[in-house]
Amino acid sequence: MPRQLVLNAFIHDVGHHEVAWRLPETRTDVQRDVTYFQDIARTAERGKLDSVFFADSPSTFGSTVARRPSEILEPALLLSAMAVVTERIGLIATSSTTYEEPYNLARTFASLDAISKGRAGWNVVTSADLTAGANFGYTEPLGHAERYARAEEFLEVVLGLWGGWEDGHRIADKANGVFHDPAKVHALDHVGEHFRVKGPLNVGRSEQGHPVVVQAGSSVPGIALAAKYAEAVFTAQPTLEEGQAFYAELKAATRKAGRNPDHVKILPGLVPIVGSTVEEARAIEKSLDDLVVLERPLAALAEQIGVPADQIDLDAPLPTDIRPASEIEGNRTRYELIVALARREDLTVRQLLLRLGGGRGHRTYVGTPEQVADTIQEWFTSGAADGFNIMPAIYPSGLETFVDHVVPVLQDRGLFRRDYAGTTLRDHYGLPVPAPLGAASGAGVGASSGGAAATTERTA
Ligand SMILES: Cc1cc2nc3c(=O)[nH]c(=O)nc-3n(C[C@H](O)[C@H](O)[C@H](O)COP(=O)(O)O)c2cc1C
Repeated sequence: MPRQLVLNAFIHDVGHHEVAWRLPETRTDVQRDVTYFQDIARTAERGKLDSVFFADSPSTFGSTVARRPSEILEPALLLSAMAVVTERIGLIATSSTTYEEPYNLARTFASLDAISKGRAGWNVVTSADLTAGANFGYTEPLGHAERYARAEEFLEVVLGLWGGWEDGHRIADKANGVFHDPAKVHALDHVGEHFRVKGPLNVGRSEQGHPVVVQAGSSVPGIALAAKYAEAVFTAQPTLEEGQAFYAELKAATRKAGRNPDHVKILPGLVPIVGSTVEEARAIEKSLDDLVVLERPLAALAEQIGVPADQIDLDAPLPTDIRPASEIEGNRTRYELIVALARREDLTVRQLLLRLGGGRGHRTYVGTPEQVADTIQEWFTSGAADGFNIMPAIYPSGLETFVDHVVPVLQDRGLFRRDYAGTTLRDHYGLPVPAPLGAASGAGVGASSGGAAATTERTA
């Protein structure tokens, strides 16, 4: 079997283009309609996609990130409703290591993994939206380095809790009144700088062991965290060369961390705008761009770069005297990427804002199904991607077009499955099932992901 693409559908209510909601055919009430999201999951499954994914923040996403404040239902809850109407599609939700507690998070995702019979994934983020801190008692936003230090210990605890149950713990011997074997359920006894967690978790292992660990930060500490723990990485490289450089860097870091680089799937974002001819695809893009009102995105950009909006000329290049990336405490990598994009392509501020409106810095590709398949194939076969985070500009029609017109081309080229070979998310991504940690005395928490926490002891 030749190497197969991983395709993940990044769900963003009515589409990743910021004005998709203004199209005449777009519904504006989907955020609270679970059947809408269930239909999207069914469409992704019809296309044999690996997974669907929700980004998230425990906030309304501050003005620097979202140009369209919207209701956002809690993603793991929403995915559990999607799990019951599907059988194969993987279900990935974002949850924050900065604002959650590891015990609660481990339990939520282990529950989703149980409900879906081994199809859950957790997108680990340190939360790029700095306004979220005010919802959790912080008067100052937590800094980048501090968030990543907490994230590492958080992951050790979650993996330790997930690893605490051995298979065969349930005996259910009715005749002798023995329900389970307590020697197979292990406490964690974690004592660290940020957390004290005794354990064990009150949910055991699933069909895939535990949820797949996904990660989405690309700064230096972000890559270090991914190398140590991530099994899939969402990223946003706009050019093939940058994609190749990031891919090589992360695979090398993974090898250095003592892990098999094939066990971390690198998935750049791709916003496909597909038409049966190039002209048709361009017309779709234009119909969206024509609806963009630049006032709010300009204000958001002004805030990010540290230049008052009234001093920015929309038809001139990005000002040169802007805030350095090192001062960005939120989404530092995306900031660097946006500035590099503007400079590399010599974009005016207006052109830059239109580009960002299409996919927030992710790569947009406008073309026919064959052309979209060509670019996917090129990145996949030239060391830039293991697959893609597919981000339709318009939902649900963009996903339907991708499934009905691009997926068959990829299948005909032998790059993508015609049917699921397994039932779990690990099966789809080609990831190993992690062993329970409890049995391996002294193995240390995080052993399944190559880490070891000196401060954690495991007790039966
Ligand atoms: C595809 C993708 C999805 C992301 N989803 C989220 C998200 O749901 N919530 C969030 O706070 N950050 C999200 N991020 C941002 C990162 O997780 C991270 O917080 C941000 O990039 C800052 O970390 P960095 O400086 O290491 O890149 C996402 C990034 C990418 C590439």
